[in-house]
Amino acid sequence: MDRYAVIGQPVAHSLSPRIHALFAQQTQQTLSYEALEVSPESLADTLKKLHADGWRGFNITLPHKLAVAALCESVSERAQLAGAVNTLIRTDSGWKGDNTDGVGLIRDLKNQGIAVTGKRVLLLGAGGAARGVIKPLLDEKPAELTLSNRNPWKPEKIAVEFKAHGNIRPATHLSLRGDQFDLVINATSAGHDGVMPRVSAGVLAKGCVCYDLSYGKAHAPFAAWAQQQNAAKIADGLGMLVEQAATSFELWRGVRPTTITALSELRKAG
Ligand code: ATR
Repeated sequence: MDRYAVIGQPVAHSLSPRIHALFAQQTQQTLSYEALEVSPESLADTLKKLHADGWRGFNITLPHKLAVAALCESVSERAQLAGAVNTLIRTDSGWKGDNTDGVGLIRDLKNQGIAVTGKRVLLLGAGGAARGVIKPLLDEKPAELTLSNRNPWKPEKIAVEFKAHGNIRPATHLSLRGDQFDLVINATSAGHDGVMPRVSAGVLAKGCVCYDLSYGKAHAPFAAWAQQQNAAKIADGLGMLVEQAATSFELWRGVRPTTITALSELRKAG
């Protein structure tokens, strides 16, 4: 049987095994998908061994998304730009690294009818999660993409790096007073600490959509802030999670599952 897994540490909480089991059932594919807890120190040896044992592919999650790129035989252009790898695809001689997070976000925004083209977009955070979605967002041609963080250094560096791909402006969370946005995307990890970064008040334009890359408990602080700022719509990152998984599945199996069914199963299960 073809074997797949999500590799991380910790990984027990991962929804990926559930999602891929639903995809396999729906597309009538026979495969197994597990969660493998692997430490950073043993990642290189583990990947070699898993290749020798015939495994077909992996999803990569924290804390390995950056380190794994160096262990790949080749890395796709979008993963290189993102600076992170979330999907490994078996080749005869090693692993090919790819990143499906950005395309997952864009697909979920489209599913929900959330427009990016021509809109003023604010991206909160300048870590790995933010990096992964910048190019796909710029490809949708927003009126502008403002990248903000607690301090200016990371956004400034990233803005220079992505300048050739579109209109990107660096900022800090507390320097946004007077600005107005149609779409605010939270790519900070602050929600995992139960907090929302302090952001200048009044930056949500009328009808503004607030979208969080986090889901579950980690989504609550951003959702509370968005509600307090009168967002017209608030979305968590569960749809993006399912969409990025579907693209990984398609890369491995050559068939795309219907994400809407898997997403509603996950929401039903709570
Ligand atoms: P990830 O891969 O999830 O993006 P990361 O690379 O560590 O993780 O980046 C985390 C992001 O969340 C950063 O933008 C970080 O801000 P700093 O660069 O200022 O550290 C942001 N972040 C994390 N905890 C935060 C908090 N409590 N308040 C505000 N921003 C926070």
